[in-house]
Amino acid sequence: VNSRVKGVVRRHGSLALVRVLDAGHMSPVLGNPRVHVLEPTQQLKALLTIIRNRETSRGDFIFYSDRIIRLLVEEGKWLNHLPVVESVIETPTGSQYQGVDFLGKICGVSIMRAGESMEQGIRDCCRSVRIGKILIQRDEETAEAKLYYAKLPTDIATRYVLLLDPMLVSLSLRPAEDVLPRVAPITQSRLLTLITFRAYFTLLMSRPATGGSAIRAIQVLLDHGVQEERILFLNLLCAPEGIRAVMGQYPRMQIVTADIDDGLDEHKFITPGLGDFGCRYFGTD
Ligand code: URA
Repeated sequence: VNSRVKGVVRRHGSLALVRVLDAGHMSPVLGNPRVHVLEPTQQLKALLTIIRNRETSRGDFIFYSDRIIRLLVEEGKWLNHLPVVESVIETPTGSQYQGVDFLGKICGVSIMRAGESMEQGIRDCCRSVRIGKILIQRDEETAEAKLYYAKLPTDIATRYVLLLDPMLVSLSLRPAEDVLPRVAPITQSRLLTLITFRAYFTLLMSRPATGGSAIRAIQVLLDHGVQEERILFLNLLCAPEGIRAVMGQYPRMQIVTADIDDGLDEHKFITPGLGDFGCRYFGTD
């Protein structure tokens, strides 16, 4: 971590998460320059405060979530994350303007159902955008994230994909490398067994049931020929576990998020979090 770091060090269990705020408002997180956190302006903080508040009405939850989604889409689409080429145009005054033009086509893909809440945000920013859908649910017998439905643009392999899911949890059954060296008295293989058993058990018991869905959805995109570096995953909130799991498996994709929280509780809800996003946004259980 260099001297330009102005940011925040937060304790997460035994891990220190260092949020680096030096590169304009793009923040490498956990040392990963492909994870971008929106600039923590007072406006964003106020919006997050409203949607995190358990007393917030459903109408306000939808309205203010939509505002944040819009910021995420603007960040993902318009700022730095999609390639551009130089473009010189002539203005009505007869002068030349050295501008840029987007290179390549994009599409959105929402992970149902919570990801569908982010579709309008993309439509508002990207004219006539194509939007695919993926439905993944946990198989109650095997606890695996199972693909039930995928409808994607036929030319998706040629596109940049904005993958949409408001909460990134995505459990990794692998132990976090940075925890292992701290526990010398237990052998590594015993610890691995313990952690794997505990992760498997808690995955079975979890309520939001999103474990592994992000990873499975990315695999679906890759199976359809999308290039990993062309995937931009947009989230409102991430758990550090989710970032580690997803970026560990797909290191060339990018994440754009509004905030990174402390971790997960025993029910696999993000903490401090905002509760069950889908229930609060759609008003159903
Ligand atoms: N999904 C949610 O809606 N909330 C969480 O905290 C985690 C996953």
